[in-house]
Amino acid sequence: MDAEKVKKTIVVTGGAGFIGSNFVNEWFSCYPDAQVIVLDALTYAGHLENLAAAQKYAGFKFVQGNIADASCVQAIFAEYQPEALINFAAESHVDRSIHGPGEFIQTNVNGTFNLLECARHYWTQLDAAAQAEFRFLHVSTDEVYGSLEADDAPFTEQHPYQPNSPYSASKAASDHLVRAWFHTYGLPVLTTNCSNNYGPFHYPEKLIPLVIQNALAGKTLPIYGDGSNVRDWLFVTDHCAAIRRVLASGRLGETYNIGGWNEKTNLDVVKTICAQLDALAPRQDGVSYAEQICFVKDRPGHDKRYAIDASKLASELAWKPQETFESGIAKTVAWYLDHQDWVRAVTGGAFDAWVRQQYQ
Ligand code: NAD
Ligand code: TYD
Repeated sequence: MDAEKVKKTIVVTGGAGFIGSNFVNEWFSCYPDAQVIVLDALTYAGHLENLAAAQKYAGFKFVQGNIADASCVQAIFAEYQPEALINFAAESHVDRSIHGPGEFIQTNVNGTFNLLECARHYWTQLDAAAQAEFRFLHVSTDEVYGSLEADDAPFTEQHPYQPNSPYSASKAASDHLVRAWFHTYGLPVLTTNCSNNYGPFHYPEKLIPLVIQNALAGKTLPIYGDGSNVRDWLFVTDHCAAIRRVLASGRLGETYNIGGWNEKTNLDVVKTICAQLDALAPRQDGVSYAEQICFVKDRPGHDKRYAIDASKLASELAWKPQETFESGIAKTVAWYLDHQDWVRAVTGGAFDAWVRQQYQ
């Protein structure tokens, strides 16, 4: 990466969640003298345990607060004078958005609106050099583009927005706000739309960690519908590296798709996890974990297929993923086997209630 363009002080919203914490921990590995202010509400998905590595650095600061709280966000801008804000904070689980969409509108839409307004007021009073350096990077999802048929080309940045779930609709709305703040006010924004991530610190409500945990606990491995839905999987550190690249060298106002060229059916993903577990932590009865697979009622409005065309990021910013699905899933399964204490720390009462609500 271009050394002189590295931001010294950044604000990371949602930095205690899955991708945000990987991003912050890696940022300090890359730039040990950096200052990073994490703003996170610590919802059920946010955990300070995820940031244990980052907390060892002198430049780490944590603020517990809501991105929709103007006075909180304004105070952070005033105190730390950041050169960038990277917005990971969101309600992120499609199934929860079906049960309760209100929080998704509140955080993903109103929260992003508040961040944009606070950033705009802060940016407006900076001098010209600082204005030119400042970036607002909005982390979004491929789900805003809707669903592909089996023989459709992968999503490019030109694909129309066709969100189908309350989650993806709320993210689409936030992307539109970010775009408008660039075109109307000149706020120096960047947007990234990434495919499904997996890796360490992934909250166990999502498919991959849920399947690992259920397998180890001897529970069923719930696959929605017939398991033929396709997702394009990217190891989380590849996503973080792409965001660093876009932050350093992305063209203002542009959106960049991020993906791993790793399309898999859900059934294939689950079978791969079972094979990894069979090798690393075999069941005592010698039977494969695949025996625990169970097809359950489909998710309402379940998008059939996501696939990302990441050529723009590759050609403009020379990014490509480092992990294959095979290497990434092996690291992920090994990480969960080694971090069962983390799983216990971040789950418990409220998580068990969610599992009962969703699966029984
Ligand atoms: P996550 O649910 O693991 O973490 C979200 C974090 O945001 C948590 O720490 C939570 O406490 C915090 N948060 C929630 N509401 C907040 C609020 N109002 N104020 C402050 N903090 C709040 O999510 P994730 O999987 O790490 O996703 C991060 C971002 O990346 C999201 O914007 C998501 O839409 C996007 N994304 C995720 C994926 C994926 O596969 N997980 C793929 C593409 C894009
Ligand atoms: P998920 O991890 O929730 O991510 P997203 O919905 O954002 O893609 O789900 C990934 C895929 O796995 C999706 O097609 C839904 C499916 N799925 C199941 O089949 N069973 C489950 O228990 C979960 C949580 C997801």
